Amino acid sequence: MESFTIAEANINDFNSVKNLMLKALQTDPTAFSSDHSDYANNSDSWWQNYLYGYLNQFYSKLFLAKQDNKVIGMVGILLDSKNRRKHVASVVWFYIDPEYRKFGLGRELLKNLIEFAKTNKAIKKLTLLVNAPQHKAIAIYKEFGFSISGTLQKELLINNEFIDEYIMELFL
Ligand SMILES: CC(C)(COP(=O)(O)OP(=O)(O)OC[C@H]1O[C@@H](n2cnc3c(N)ncnc32)[C@H](O)[C@@H]1OP(=O)(O)O)[C@@H](O)C(=O)NCCC(=O)NCCS
Repeated sequence: MESFTIAEANINDFNSVKNLMLKALQTDPTAFSSDHSDYANNSDSWWQNYLYGYLNQFYSKLFLAKQDNKVIGMVGILLDSKNRRKHVASVVWFYIDPEYRKFGLGRELLKNLIEFAKTNKAIKKLTLLVNAPQHKAIAIYKEFGFSISGTLQKELLINNEFIDEYIMELFL
C-alpha cells in the first residue's frame, strides 16, 4: 500500500465525508443501522447539520484515512456531554473503501481513535454497536480488546432478514 495519512476531519472535508458515508451504505448494506435510502435524498442543509459536530470537532471527531488527499476510510467517536455519561464514548462509522481494504488501514484508524480516547482522561469506556454479519469488523474490534457484552436480537430488518446487533465495549 502506498503511503497514506490519517487526519482529523474538518469543514473542508464536507463533500468527501458525505460521499464516503453514502458509498459505505451502498457497498456494505449490512454494515450499518441505516440504509442508503435513509440518507440518499437528504438535502445539503441536512448533511451540514448532521456533520456539523464531526467537522467542527466539538463532541465528536472523525478520523479519516487519505491517500493523495483522497478520503478512503473513516472512523468516528462521539463524546457525551452529560455529567453522568462523560466517561463513555461511542465508536461509529468504521469503514474503508473496498479498494483499499486488507492493507491495515482499518486497524490504523482504530488504533488512532483509541489513542485519542486515552488522551481524554474522562473517557473510561468505548462502546459500539456492530451488526452480526460484519465478521471482519468484529474480529478487528476483538483484536483491540473490545468484547461483546450483549446482543440486541433481531434489531434490524435487512433485505427481509432479521439481523442481531452486538454491543461491544472496551474499558480503557
Ligand atoms: C472492517 C473494515 C473497516 C476493515 O478495514 P481493513 O482496512 O480491511 O482492515 P485491516 O486491513 O486493518 O484488517 C483486516 C483484518 O480483518 C480481519 N479479517 C479479515 N478477513 C476476515 C474474515 N474473513 N473473517 C474474520 N476476520 C477477518 C483480520 O483481522 C484482518 O487482518 P489480517 O489482514 O491480518 O487477516 C472494512 O472491512 C470495512 O469497511 N467493512 C465494512 C464496514 C463495516 O463492517 N464496518 C463496521 C461497522 S460497526
